[in-house]
Amino acid sequence: MLRIKDINHVVYRHRDLDAVERFLTDFGMVTAQKTADRLYMRGTGPLPYVYIAERSEQTGCSTLAFAVEERADLAFAQTLPGGSLIEAIEGPGGGERVVLTDPAGLRVELVHAVEAAEPLPMRKALTLNSAQKKQRFGEVQRPAKAPAQVMRLGHIAIGVEDMPESLSWYREMLGLIPSDLVVESDDQNQPVAAFLRLNRGADWTDHHTVALFQAPQDKVHHASFEVQDFDAQCLGNTWMHERNWTPFWGIGRHLLGSQIFDYWLDPSGNIIEHFTDGDLLNHESPLGHTAACDDSLYQWGPSMSVEDFLGEASAYSLNK
Ligand SMILES: [Fe+2]
Repeated sequence: MLRIKDINHVVYRHRDLDAVERFLTDFGMVTAQKTADRLYMRGTGPLPYVYIAERSEQTGCSTLAFAVEERADLAFAQTLPGGSLIEAIEGPGGGERVVLTDPAGLRVELVHAVEAAEPLPMRKALTLNSAQKKQRFGEVQRPAKAPAQVMRLGHIAIGVEDMPESLSWYREMLGLIPSDLVVESDDQNQPVAAFLRLNRGADWTDHHTVALFQAPQDKVHHASFEVQDFDAQCLGNTWMHERNWTPFWGIGRHLLGSQIFDYWLDPSGNIIEHFTDGDLLNHESPLGHTAACDDSLYQWGPSMSVEDFLGEASAYSLNK
């Protein structure tokens, strides 16, 4: 079995790299390297990039990349069905990779030995006073107006035509573990959505790193990036509005994973998410089952239906 260390980066195709660079800068990423055809954007964390934009007439997400523990995992990955040979990675930090293809046709890269970059300065998390717990004394709360600094890529959500096949692939090939399954009926073995986390044993990991939704056609729905705290999200939301970018949905709190979310549309029409305050699970966390309905989407926030959220990716027949 492959040992996946973490999600690493995504690759999106865009017609206009200058436009997406302006968007991602306002979204809170930092340009790491730019050529005529490729743009590498980073967060404040130690990865040299978390998002690659490729100039292309086609648009959309083309690649999802995970870091593996050791080079031996790349050697093993070469032997998997459809696995490429180990090849060198161009771009900041170098490294090596093996390329797989998931059942939805998404390119899945397994990367290793990408050299870490120096983390960037990040505003510290705010010290909050709640009704019962006071912890800030004599200090004022004045977070600066700024983009919501992106620290890292957290997860990707993918609409898939064949849920059983995709779910099996991510479980068996990448060793991902279901945290929550969304089911339409009493048949809990036929989920319409699956939230999968990394297999990190006793270590705490995000509630989901990959989310799969039953859909009429294979298509990446969104990629999600972690920001420092709630104020970062709210200030980032204000910043994006003032720059006239297109909001999609937010700010609210999801149910499955509990993240506070804020979704935007990039210049090519892709959905991209800021999140903060997500749940952490480990090997002792039980699998959850939830009925498919709008309430499975969020606890609070602007009104939204599953159909409108998933759009053309939606294949749910809802029991509201
Ligand atoms: Fe998400």
